[in-house]
Amino acid sequence: MACSFGSLVKNAVGSNGVANFYDEWLAAGERIQGAFRNSPMVARDADIPWIRTRQDAKVKLMVSNSLGFPTMGGTVLKGEIPAGWHTGKHAHGEESLHILRGRGFSVIDGQRFDWHEGSTLQVPYRAAHQHFNTGGEPAQYLSAMCFELEEFVRLAKLEQLEDCGATDPAELAAIPPQASEYLRDGPRALIHLEDAPTDPGDEPTAQLAANQKQHHLTKYLVFPRNGFKPASVAMAHVFEEPPGHHSGRHKHLEAMLYVLSGEGHSEMGGVRQRWQAGDLLHVPPAMWEHEHFNEGDKACRLLRIQFGIRFWFTNIWPDGYTSRRATDELGRPIQAGRIEADANAAVESPVEAGGAALTS
Ligand SMILES: [Fe+2]
Ligand SMILES: [Fe+2]
Repeated sequence: MACSFGSLVKNAVGSNGVANFYDEWLAAGERIQGAFRNSPMVARDADIPWIRTRQDAKVKLMVSNSLGFPTMGGTVLKGEIPAGWHTGKHAHGEESLHILRGRGFSVIDGQRFDWHEGSTLQVPYRAAHQHFNTGGEPAQYLSAMCFELEEFVRLAKLEQLEDCGATDPAELAAIPPQASEYLRDGPRALIHLEDAPTDPGDEPTAQLAANQKQHHLTKYLVFPRNGFKPASVAMAHVFEEPPGHHSGRHKHLEAMLYVLSGEGHSEMGGVRQRWQAGDLLHVPPAMWEHEHFNEGDKACRLLRIQFGIRFWFTNIWPDGYTSRRATDELGRPIQAGRIEADANAAVESPVEAGGAALTS
């Protein structure tokens, strides 16, 4: 097997002033924590250009490690399907999708699932799938996967079965209608927002003190209580905060929040991050206290994306990584409610997407 000179040096003990592997390990924790402070936390929709790929006529990668976000290996992109078009057909790891606008259907493992704005789809690991726009306007979707994590553990495999393009009406007519929101002999693949429950059922994480009264309103999407069996990624919730309201304050490992509507800001680790509809907020795996504020005159709706790797690590170290509720100076839990005049004194973010710190 080939062995590079660099790898030999790393195993040497302090040769030529180069840190050996153990010295690098000793420094890793501080280096990682420092990097959080210099990393972007909001992917701003307006700043990210569309590109074309074999899969999508228009697509933009929003959050990924390759863009400088300190992720646990998850990726989120936004795609647009022109009227009368379909995406490519492909297979890869597990994927969770939320329809942002438009109307159409997806074919997953040969089964059709009809969708419209607010629908969420769960694609199982390695299932071939393709999306068709049947409306008169462009359709948009948000997609979350663990491609970079799968790549790191040497399991990533993306196979392109067809390219995107205009849909042949005869081909469209030949696709059988939807029979169920469930895969044949399998878990659920589709839920519409109007059908999403607002109670968590017996969902264990919802019982944690850190998640009590965290939002004014919560709708549950890809959860076992709804018939889904997500493993690595899920479009999990839609949260709503009315005008003049804030969320609870807590801390946990990674999550991502896509702003469906409204505008506001989040305070994360003492730094204020502004966002508006179309943006994607990355809560890094830093166990920072955070809280979301809606100071606008319209309700804020946030779509929460969760990655299974977070819970894998929470199980490894429950004392360190289990979600925690933050309290005020009198020890009272900070839960969702009205914004008070002195409630947010965080400084503005010095970092913009792309990782460069502003100089002014
Ligand atoms: Fe896909
Ligand atoms: Fe949170």
